[in-house]
Amino acid sequence: MALDLFSPAKLGSIALKNRIVMAPLTRNRAGDGGVPHDLNVTYYAQRASAGLIVTEATPISAMGHGYPALPGIYTDEQVAGWKKITDAVHAKGGKIVIQLWHVGRISHPTLLNGALPVAPSAIKPAGKAFTYQGLVDYVEPRALDASELPAIVQDYVHATKCALKAGFDGVEIHAANGYLLDQFLRDGSNKRTDNYGGSFENRARLLLEVTKAVVETAGADKVGIRISPVNPFNDMQDSNPQALFNYVTEQLNQFNLAYLHAVEGGIHGGGKADAFDFEQMRKLFKGAYMANLSYDKARGNAAIASGHADVIAYGVPFIANPDLVERYKTDAALNEADSKSFYGGDEKGYTDYPFLSA
Ligand code: PHB
Repeated sequence: MALDLFSPAKLGSIALKNRIVMAPLTRNRAGDGGVPHDLNVTYYAQRASAGLIVTEATPISAMGHGYPALPGIYTDEQVAGWKKITDAVHAKGGKIVIQLWHVGRISHPTLLNGALPVAPSAIKPAGKAFTYQGLVDYVEPRALDASELPAIVQDYVHATKCALKAGFDGVEIHAANGYLLDQFLRDGSNKRTDNYGGSFENRARLLLEVTKAVVETAGADKVGIRISPVNPFNDMQDSNPQALFNYVTEQLNQFNLAYLHAVEGGIHGGGKADAFDFEQMRKLFKGAYMANLSYDKARGNAAIASGHADVIAYGVPFIANPDLVERYKTDAALNEADSKSFYGGDEKGYTDYPFLSA
């Protein structure tokens, strides 16, 4: 029988009961100190029928924060908070990986104990920072010295160790959407003249160093990576995205990763991304491929049947439909998502969307 969204799958060592993945979704509802709490446990446990949950993007260090009320994965208290989530998801037969995040320049001193955000180059992004005081202008970030990069790689290693202690089935390295690793990759944000700027090889160096270190810590079969070759969100551009991301994909083959996760366009309405041949890039990758962005059930099934994707990540549908898998299975109507409660708040728009059985 042909494969579809309901077929089991294996991503590295992670066995999925279906191919419907909950995409990483920033929700800004963590407790003080970036510690996940009971409301977050309920939210993730409600969605455990997904074949795999990728958690919201989660800072690997205090300097990795760029928005209010994010959970972290670098203190003992955060590990204990996440452990309740992984236990609850596993008790329902689900699988969950944590997305490891450093925002780079997409931050503000008020979110960083007064420190300047860091970036490959001192280039202020267009747009506004989302802070506890509301939307404010970005500041010019501080360009990282090459001598500081090994400590950032070690922050990824520390966060990976914390994730394993917290009981996650794996980790996803966030190299997408205009955050630190993507800022290094793309030439609109990386104007460095040292070993970390210029050629594809140099711009991909930090990502590959991070990947190598995380793989050595967790095992390649527990590590995925997320990229967004043409997403203009967070003021990102590149002069030759196809060649750059074909190069990155070919380099990633050396690690035998659990999966490559691609955002196949622009998020937050930035739909006018340059033409990019995702199928060409996908064919270069020798492992499992997770496709994301505006898929519905029919397009998801078609992408799996054609071999374009192994699994499909759904974002907004999972916000509004904790039982998305059952709804797709039975062709039931979907709840509408309320965008006003996406970022921050309480249980409203978070854990109160109705199940079919309700
Ligand atoms: C967001 O908060 O809008 C956001 C966070 C992480 C992403 C993308 C968007 O990767």
